[in-house]
Amino acid sequence: MNRRVCVVTGAAEGIGTAIARRFAASGDVVVLNDVDARAAELTAQRIEGSGGHCVLACGDITEEPVVAEVAETALAVADGRVDVLVNNVGDFRPAAWTFLHSTPQQWQRLYELNLWHVLALTHALLPSMVEREQGVIINNSTVEAFRGIPGKAVYSAFNAGVSAFTKSLAVEVGQHGIRVNAIAPDLADTPQTPAAAMLHGRDPDLIRTWVPLGRFGDPDDYAAVVEFLASPQSCYLTGQTIPVDGGTLAASGWYGRADRKGWTNLPNEA
Ligand SMILES: NC(=O)c1ccc[n+]([C@@H]2O[C@H](COP(=O)([O-])OP(=O)(O)OC[C@H]3O[C@@H](n4cnc5c(N)ncnc54)[C@H](O)[C@@H]3O)[C@@H](O)[C@H]2O)c1
Repeated sequence: MNRRVCVVTGAAEGIGTAIARRFAASGDVVVLNDVDARAAELTAQRIEGSGGHCVLACGDITEEPVVAEVAETALAVADGRVDVLVNNVGDFRPAAWTFLHSTPQQWQRLYELNLWHVLALTHALLPSMVEREQGVIINNSTVEAFRGIPGKAVYSAFNAGVSAFTKSLAVEVGQHGIRVNAIAPDLADTPQTPAAAMLHGRDPDLIRTWVPLGRFGDPDDYAAVVEFLASPQSCYLTGQTIPVDGGTLAASGWYGRADRKGWTNLPNEA
């Protein structure tokens, strides 16, 4: 079978779905993992309804048996070949208002949801990539790996870990023809961070005061960059985390003025 085999975790909703649909639309076989089996089934139906090919491997990717099952399912698709692994799952919840009020149980869950499974599934699938001397790994980090976020210090620490892992692993496995990159999203309109919740009753016209490109991101905006990172178009790119954020990281600390006369770093003048 010549189709690429692409594994996507958290593929039933949000950015993961958009990634899976892009891969399927370009002819890949997509191995869909999600903890929400019903939503994953619906995504699979939509992919197959559009003529795409996919295989389900549902379950909580923070659990060792699920990691093993996802790897086994993926490796069975095409005689042990996995071409692309997208470690997409991540969540800022459970969250406390401040680090001061957070608990070790929350740190543990944030570790499992944001970093542990990235290590675990990569570890499970890397041997097959090394053996074939090719493969692409793409992790989903966040702009908050680079920019401070009060109240989410632990989430940002583990995502900084995702980006550091991306960098170091890329150096380690480049000699085997394997590329490792990440994206760092901001402001995606997804079930985790719906645009309406982000606006929270504010005038939508204000979005341009904090997002240079003037809008929230559609899941497909992020999927397009993942598709590029998975393609031969990015064959000389490895070890990087690419911000996909409408310019928020570049603007950090700067606000568009309400009178549209440029930008200010003094929020009371915005
Ligand atoms: N939404 C944003 O603005 C934003 C910003 C920065 C980073 N990110 C990152 O992008 C990635 C995707 O975010 P999203 O907004 O699309 O998320 P989402 O919550 O909208 O969708 C995540 C999907 O993953 C599934 N999932 C959750 N936990 C899982 C688990 N333990 N095992 C298997 N599946 C699981 C969910 O069921 C859902 O289908 C995450 O890593 C997130 O941290 C998102």
